[in-house]
Amino acid sequence: MAGEASASGDVTEGKPRTHVITHLPGDGVGPEVTAVARACVDAAAARHGFAVDWRSCALGGEHYLKTGEVLPDQVLDELRKSDAILLGAVGHPDVPPGVLERGLLLRLRFELDLYINLRPSKLRAGVGGAVGAHRLEDLDLVIVRENTEGLYAGAGGTVHRGTEFETATEESLNTWAGVRRCIRYAARLAARRSGRLTLVHKTNVLTHAGDLWYRLARTVAAEEGVELSYAHVDAACLWMVDDPKRFDVIVTDNLFGDILSDLGAALTGGLGLAPSGNLNPDLTGPSVFEPVHGSAPDIAGTGRANPAGAVLSAGLMLSHLGEDAAAVELDSAVSAVLAGGPSRQPAGTAEWEKALLDQLGGGGS
Ligand code: IPM
Ligand code: MN
Repeated sequence: MAGEASASGDVTEGKPRTHVITHLPGDGVGPEVTAVARACVDAAAARHGFAVDWRSCALGGEHYLKTGEVLPDQVLDELRKSDAILLGAVGHPDVPPGVLERGLLLRLRFELDLYINLRPSKLRAGVGGAVGAHRLEDLDLVIVRENTEGLYAGAGGTVHRGTEFETATEESLNTWAGVRRCIRYAARLAARRSGRLTLVHKTNVLTHAGDLWYRLARTVAAEEGVELSYAHVDAACLWMVDDPKRFDVIVTDNLFGDILSDLGAALTGGLGLAPSGNLNPDLTGPSVFEPVHGSAPDIAGTGRANPAGAVLSAGLMLSHLGEDAAAVELDSAVSAVLAGGPSRQPAGTAEWEKALLDQLGGGGS
């Protein structure tokens, strides 16, 4: 159960430790890619001596169109009982913008207090980035995106709608406690990596929020003993393309992190490979792991979806659950499959699954 996730490393009287994971496949390619991720988790579990008690949950655009439900309270209460949630994608061409994004994805982030969105961007051998040719060691960064505040918090509104005086506002909320806990997570992550943390913001224009972020970054970096640098978000975009070795751990607000992580994905093989973890580091509820790509309705059902982003997200999930050795194996399996280079990479989802399970020692058995 949720609060015990951190104790999941315990083996009690020879019984395998068990993680309760809710599979929320969602829409479009979500079910296809998470089926592969799930098979990889099961293969890793068998090798590393833990068990997964899979639950499943039908939510998303299809479900909404059938039932009118986005995220009922009792479903949310059920979800709270898992140790982690593996989510495919939600989105449907017939559902108006915002219904699922605000009502499901953001509501999960807010209600479960998933205040970190962890988005690694790592260039792997065999992958051609969209721009330039970077050395592998130069592009291995992690974006720590604040995930419950900023422009996503929902503050703002519309008045005089439909008249020429219509006024729409979106306010960015930045709380001292919310910003501090995000930067603290990032600084501790940086301490375990290179010791380098970069704050990305726009302090020269967003002077109110920028001042709060900058002051807190200085204080927290000093407390945690990491070296702090700063980049305006526009310059950070340029440097991520031109000179990504400047960055190791980037900490930034919700919208900047959303945008920068798509850029990071483009530089490291595309959205199909990009993982994310929506984390509740305090373990007061389950964290949610999902590939950065969406439901991709144009390729759903064609067998062409790349499950690597979902598998890498499942790797982040295993690491969060304390299964570090299994997490590393999933990550290495993806790297090994990619290492063959573009001409030898799996043609579709099924080929990916076979190649990954071969790596994980489960193929054909
Ligand atoms: C993402 C997505 C979401 C976001 C949308 C679908 C709400 O773009 O996870 O990056 O903006 O956070
Ligand atoms: Mn996004």
